Amino acid sequence: MFNKSLIEKFQTIETPFYYYDLDILNRTIADVKAESEKHNFNIHYALKANTNQQILKIICNAGFGADCVSGNEVKAALRNQFVTESIVFAGVGKTDKEIIESLTADIFCFNCESIEEIKVINQLAASLNKKARIALRINPNVNANTHHYITTGLEENKFGINFWELEAVMEVIKNSPNIQLIGLHFHIGSQICDLEPFRLLCTRVNEIQQWFSSRNISITHLNLGGGLGVDYHEPDKNAIPNFKSYFAVFHKFLEIKKNQQVHFELGRSMVAQCGSLISKVLFVKEGKKTNFIILDAGMTELIRPALYQSYHKIENLTADFFSTNINTNETKYDVVGPICESSDCFAKALLLPASERGHLFAIRTTGAYGQVMSLEYNLREKAPSIYSDSI
Ligand code: LLP
Repeated sequence: MFNKSLIEKFQTIETPFYYYDLDILNRTIADVKAESEKHNFNIHYALKANTNQQILKIICNAGFGADCVSGNEVKAALRNQFVTESIVFAGVGKTDKEIIESLTADIFCFNCESIEEIKVINQLAASLNKKARIALRINPNVNANTHHYITTGLEENKFGINFWELEAVMEVIKNSPNIQLIGLHFHIGSQICDLEPFRLLCTRVNEIQQWFSSRNISITHLNLGGGLGVDYHEPDKNAIPNFKSYFAVFHKFLEIKKNQQVHFELGRSMVAQCGSLISKVLFVKEGKKTNFIILDAGMTELIRPALYQSYHKIENLTADFFSTNINTNETKYDVVGPICESSDCFAKALLLPASERGHLFAIRTTGAYGQVMSLEYNLREKAPSIYSDSI
């Protein structure tokens, strides 16, 4: 991803900024496309992972659909020319305004998460003289074995409709002339690296499908959500996630009926590895147990470590590419940001080459849920995006 001449260019740019390697993005996208097409699977990019226009353009041009979780994401998808019939709109709390705008735009499908939501969509669709296509997001009660903040498919989570509610849901749909049930939707969580939970999901979806077919309810679309994890520890070695094995699990274990189309909503796996947060060392300060490297990027630019204690590989680019010192991994540092919160910490007791004021650092695998989750806290300015094709 990096080389000497690139880092020399970085030295001329004000930090912090997000750097996007479009070669990695293009290679990742080509792989998702090739592997999903083998099975006729439809991919909707989960905009929540990264909504940068240039990234949306590349993904849209490759022919992917869009998975949105707010009215503004639907608008961003439309603005960036995602095909309207490829836009799905999910979320436990859609506002009337968001529903009306999406109905007016005639998006492909609403992923519905509660009985009340179905009733409201029916009313709003009636007022617009429209029929809303919906998929029921069903909580499959499958444990994704990931961080508890990003586990979504358990009964205790706020997401989806529980299996035991289906009778009541179908009663409501029967009495909702402006609703057309077309699909079932599932999403068990994010950053899932072990494929076993996806196999369990397939088994569960097969059971749930039986409930519908035994009642002669036709389901034409199955949406399995997203969740495929990426390698935060070895971003160079494993720059492209194993889409082949991921889709193979669904091909093998999911019972797909003749008239059914299968959809996925991938976010992180498509964009995480192409992004790095580039920051400069402001100060190096002696501590009691370890020294501190204070960067000019903090939790305001990348909140994942503070929020989920998540690991991101941290590299001292200046030392790695320009140091003549052979004793590179010598010192233990806490790598922190400038924000007045103790949780503003990227890594503790990390072994790094001797670091100094002015050294450039890269925080890797930040293309997904990085820039989109940035905060204005402390009146911080938004870190800009730099793309590999324009540097
Ligand atoms: N579909 C639904 C319904 C979702 O809730 C999500 C992510 C996705 C698709 C995309 O999942 P992915 O392929 O990206 O795993 N901010 C957290 C991740 C939150 C994920 C929310 N839902 C993080 O930084 O790890």
